[in-house]
Amino acid sequence: MKILGIESSCDETAVAIYEEGQGIAAHQIYSKVALHSSYGGVVPELAARDHIRQLTKLIDQSLTEAKLKSSDLTGIAYTEGPGLIGSLLVGVSVAKSLAYSLKILCLGVHHLEAHLMAVMLAEPKPSYPFLALLISGGHTLLLEVQSLGSYIHLGETLDDAVGEAFDKTARLLGLSYPGGPELAHLAESGRAGQFQLPRPMLNKPGLDFSFSGLKTHVMNLARANQVLEDPQKRADLAYEFQEAVVDTLISKCERAVKQTGIRQLVMVGGVSANLRLRSELKRRLRDTDVYYPSTDLCTDNGAMIAYLGYLRFKAGEQDGDLVIRAKARWSLS
Ligand code: KG4
Ligand code: ZN
Repeated sequence: MKILGIESSCDETAVAIYEEGQGIAAHQIYSKVALHSSYGGVVPELAARDHIRQLTKLIDQSLTEAKLKSSDLTGIAYTEGPGLIGSLLVGVSVAKSLAYSLKILCLGVHHLEAHLMAVMLAEPKPSYPFLALLISGGHTLLLEVQSLGSYIHLGETLDDAVGEAFDKTARLLGLSYPGGPELAHLAESGRAGQFQLPRPMLNKPGLDFSFSGLKTHVMNLARANQVLEDPQKRADLAYEFQEAVVDTLISKCERAVKQTGIRQLVMVGGVSANLRLRSELKRRLRDTDVYYPSTDLCTDNGAMIAYLGYLRFKAGEQDGDLVIRAKARWSLS
């Protein structure tokens, strides 16, 4: 099987090819950071229009990279949701039209499930069942993964996603979009103990998260201490914000391990690239094996879509009609 994967749920346009027995044969991403950075965030209409410009080019580049012709493809998988509806519709339309013209399989897949399954492309990989912490710009979820397609929902954010909290706080500190990696970089020169921030939801039972209050605390501290005028204070506050998020996420993971008895944890989504989170997780969850996708598969990409499509095509699934369908909201469980 040779599966083309198309990802267009947010701002990145990404295409990849997964070949059975070979692995990822092509991996193309077009980043639109430059397009959106002057607005401080993703502008949905601009993102959708740019997917139209980039997608067919990336498909051609992927075929060239994999040394394949379009007629060699077995199927096309695309992100059906969740995501920005205009962006998703571009991917769905291109995928369905191309599959129809080539008379090959076509299937819409779940973006978050694709993030999750990307870990199976890495070595070593976990065995079922495992816990999963999915932390991206739009989602914060804690799951028990029993098998492909079987997920028990353990906890989620009640307000901002963790990546969103990073991005909004970075903006408050005067950093440019996307703020998560920039804030993490600034925090490296921060000193511990200069500011105090709460650990949201740790004093309550359960595995849900809440991050919107943290950003308000950062805003108040920044105003009260003239943080923006002092580079060292900015770094100190970035450091404490990152510590509060990392501590909260890890404490909930510890709870999930205790509650389920499962000693394997997979961490996926853009925020899983955070190095402080990785090192603290390793230090604190000593009796639990932690797994990540390879670094280039942590953020949005087409390879995870192609691979999930491959798994589901193998299980006999495919779209039953030619209707152009996309889901802005779509629960994983
Ligand atoms: O999974 P992803 O690429 O896109 C979706 O949201 O689906 O995640 C992007 C998010 C952004 O909020 C970005 O700021 C955050 O991941 N991020 C990070 C880091 N790298 C990316 N947050 C904290 N530390 C990082 N090193
Ligand atoms: Zn994503």
